[in-house]
Amino acid sequence: MTVTGPARTLPAAPAQPTLPASATAPSASSSGAPEGWWRDAVIYQVYIRSFADGNGDGIGDLLGIRTRLPYLRALGVDAVWITPFYPSPMADGGYDVADYCAVDPQFGRLGDFDALIAEAHELGLRVIVDLVPNHSSDRHRWFAEALADAAGGPARARYIFRPGKGGDGQLPPNDWESIFGGPAWTRTFDPDGAPGEWYLHLFDPAQPDLNWRDEGVRAQFEQILRFWLDRGVDGFRVDVAHGMIKHPDLPDIGYSNQITMLGSAVLPYFDQDEVHEIHRSWRAILDSYPGERIAVAEAWAPSLERLAAYVRPDELHQAFNFHYLNTPWEAGALREVIDLSLRTAGLVGAPSTWVLSNHDVQRHVTRYGGGERGLRRARAAALLMLALPGSAYVYQGEELGLEEVLDLPVELLQDPQRFRSADGVSGRDGCRVPLPWSGTASPFGFTPLNIVDGWLPAPARWAAGTVEAQWQEPNSMLGLYRQALRLRREHPALGDGALDWTDSPTDTLVFTREPGFACTVITGDVAVELPIPGRVLLASGPVHVPAESTAGGEAVVVLPPDTAVWWARG
Ligand code: NOJ
Ligand code: CA
Repeated sequence: MTVTGPARTLPAAPAQPTLPASATAPSASSSGAPEGWWRDAVIYQVYIRSFADGNGDGIGDLLGIRTRLPYLRALGVDAVWITPFYPSPMADGGYDVADYCAVDPQFGRLGDFDALIAEAHELGLRVIVDLVPNHSSDRHRWFAEALADAAGGPARARYIFRPGKGGDGQLPPNDWESIFGGPAWTRTFDPDGAPGEWYLHLFDPAQPDLNWRDEGVRAQFEQILRFWLDRGVDGFRVDVAHGMIKHPDLPDIGYSNQITMLGSAVLPYFDQDEVHEIHRSWRAILDSYPGERIAVAEAWAPSLERLAAYVRPDELHQAFNFHYLNTPWEAGALREVIDLSLRTAGLVGAPSTWVLSNHDVQRHVTRYGGGERGLRRARAAALLMLALPGSAYVYQGEELGLEEVLDLPVELLQDPQRFRSADGVSGRDGCRVPLPWSGTASPFGFTPLNIVDGWLPAPARWAAGTVEAQWQEPNSMLGLYRQALRLRREHPALGDGALDWTDSPTDTLVFTREPGFACTVITGDVAVELPIPGRVLLASGPVHVPAESTAGGEAVVVLPPDTAVWWARG
């Protein structure tokens, strides 16, 4: 039998697919018991500025998301996480929030958000919003009040202000570096114009860090959580969930280029034990609402063990597994990180999560080598990820096989992190280019009627990879994702649970899941002969299963490089 990519033909559907009548709103199971829906949910990340533009100004918005909800439903995901849409001067793409309980006019109005939630629930999709508690915008009312306050005053206490060092206080209070480059401190001027205290900003100077030792800050955020929970959100993605508590002494670190140590060393501004108290208090709030509202931590912890602490039963529900994202396409390394992820999350009874891309990292087709090879590996990586026990995150556009855009016009770049990038210019804009939906030229249906271009232009080569172009093509990346997501819903072995490894040659992974499922993955550059585990359910590349093939009596199949296959056993 020869199976080229997905085995079944996709139902014919337009770029805006119609929905099955059976779509239902998220709800508790019929017994009334919690479903644990999040333990194996596939959660689709919408980077709002670049997903879909509803009003034609070239910037994605809430209306755009609403019009594309049927697409997400037909794709087969369970939930959507929307990046910040709150009022913001956009110094960091919305992660600089000026008002936590409102919608930025460029993204719509609160009424649009309420409509989005209602429509998503109607379609059976859950909605997760971003919470940005580590820092606010410098345009937040709290920061204006802090600047106007005297040193040591209550409004200043909401942030981290300190006098400088040196005779005139002209040096920063310590040697901490901003993740976006340069010192993590900026000096302020007192109301009389004299140079004054410094404030801490682990990210951009426009993102002052809040002081989570201040009771008022804690109380305000509890109100913010309730504001969105009352509007019906199903959960929060917590930005910099490991960063809210700083070591009380703000000690020097003693070396520079600290960014290279993020996620591998304990730094006095990240992953401090006291941060867990905050997460516990939030869990109590989440649990006080019906319908299993969840929180997922964006936490960079030095090890998977320390990451597991964020998902203890009385803390957050999930944490992004950046250790997995950072693992190269190599069987041994993948097996190691999968084992460690399952073991450490399992220690606290949490599901593991899996993620390949997001709006902060280079798209994985490019990381895996780009071009044909990158795409081939990304197809295989999708089947591997979606076969693993736990919950998976899909970043918008990965289902289209999009590559990083490395040749954006420099004058259009916006990301404050670009100065840190290897080439000194690209930063994170290259993974944030507006999605190509249809048509043959940028903005590829991203804006209504294609009249205005998107805020970043899409490359002409994306014409072949639009949603419209791929929708009816079973061998496309989109076809692969759709079929994988459908099988994942249908197959009793997939989703939450366990896996068993089968020993296999170098550069291969073989595992089974009960009942009756196997996955084989080849990560090397040469074809590998493996025992046939069963009947092909789905393959990421061309697989020829001979009618009769034996090696010492055992039926074998030769699997091509960079290919994953799902098999039905038994
Ligand atoms: C993580 C977000 O994903 C990223 O985009 C942002 O720049 C930082 N946190 C700061 O909020
Ligand atoms: Ca818009």
